[in-house]
Amino acid sequence: MTWNPGTWRSKTAAQQPTWPDITELEQVEKELASVPPLVFAGEARELRQRLASVSNGEAFLLQAGDCAESFDGFNADAIREKLRVILQMAVVLTYSSGVPAIKVGRIAGQFAKPRSRPTETVDGTELPSFLGHMVNDLPFSEHDRRPTPARLLQAYHQSASTLNLLRAFTKGGFADLHRVQAWNHEFVGSSNEGQRYAKLASEIDRALRFMEATGVSSQHPEIHEAEFFTSHEALILQYEEALTRRDSLTGEWYDCSAHMLWIGERTRDLDGAHLEFLRGVHNPIGCKIGPTATPDDVVGLCDALDPGREAGRLTLISRMGAKQVADRLPPLLDAVRQSGHPVVWACDPMHGNTFTSESGHKTRHFDDVLAEVTGFFAAHREMGTWPGGIHIELTGENVTECLGGAEEVQPKDLGKRYETMCDPRLNGRQAVDLSFRVAELLAP
Ligand code: PEP
Ligand code: CO
Repeated sequence: MTWNPGTWRSKTAAQQPTWPDITELEQVEKELASVPPLVFAGEARELRQRLASVSNGEAFLLQAGDCAESFDGFNADAIREKLRVILQMAVVLTYSSGVPAIKVGRIAGQFAKPRSRPTETVDGTELPSFLGHMVNDLPFSEHDRRPTPARLLQAYHQSASTLNLLRAFTKGGFADLHRVQAWNHEFVGSSNEGQRYAKLASEIDRALRFMEATGVSSQHPEIHEAEFFTSHEALILQYEEALTRRDSLTGEWYDCSAHMLWIGERTRDLDGAHLEFLRGVHNPIGCKIGPTATPDDVVGLCDALDPGREAGRLTLISRMGAKQVADRLPPLLDAVRQSGHPVVWACDPMHGNTFTSESGHKTRHFDDVLAEVTGFFAAHREMGTWPGGIHIELTGENVTECLGGAEEVQPKDLGKRYETMCDPRLNGRQAVDLSFRVAELLAP
């Protein structure tokens, strides 16, 4: 079947809202189809190149950010803190492993959520589930939960401002490696992992001074600027279609809502609309792989999304759960290797390890997160494949959403700063801690 940005419409799309007003939706789609793209095809191609080097074992992917971005918590500080902790993690990974960390945020577009149930019932009242701020709002009222197309436009505009700020931070001096000490935020800095980071940062400072002293300039763009890409789950296909544009240079289609798009665990049906849409855009594509996926399923996904067997095109993001990764992952690694698809394998150690605490909070334990990453590395070692990256939900703030970590968040702490709109995120300390643990696994 020939592809165009709208061919997904003849397929079944899982996890879509029931839009009460189709005329309103169509008006918004029209408007979105004429707005400027958020990213350029050339940038998406650049990320494909970086991911190609990950697939060759020459780089490591760090994909991280919110489970769901919010229209409410939208301010420069929150964006800066998220970027800061991702930069810290990348420095730890790069310094310890000697391979570049490719930084991809779950940011500037991560506004739509698949849910385990389409509706939620409270005291006998049934309403649509919260599907992310691109669709509806969190409070349990008929008004808030109504899918509202104008939210697609708001998501676009917030993504544009977020991306603008990220570009300013990464190119305008904030991300300069000479500031590696300054990224150590107060609440992270005073902790054990913060002190460990400070030590590493002062070694980097010394290395930069050494370079200067020997006459090798450290004034390269690579040192002054950081390369940072955006990504989100391509869930609401009207939004993605409207932002899909033909590249004037190559004539190829790119989804210009983000550099990289991924397909979720609940929308990876081989005959579904999400596969149909994403197979035709030339961005790098991710696909979540959960514990029910068989080797045939995964090779089928590879054939559909990467028919040309092109390095950098496809990232498979496994999210098996700490208990299942050792059994489930190796047969998939083997089948994909035999199929000849040069994929990137990344580990999402978050989504297979969620449970509800006694206090009723949806949470994850740092030990389970670490155990899944450790199992992921062990599986790759066993199969002789490259553990290409990690995919993490985090925030720069001092939240108490995930349990454990070096300075342990206890069950009784969960209520203190539980701020996520969807899944529990690692806080800045836990994220830096995790990066040291991953760096140890990666170290040559
Ligand atoms: C997510 O990444 O937030 C998510 C919903 O993941 P998954 O599709 O793997 O469940
Ligand atoms: Co999530």
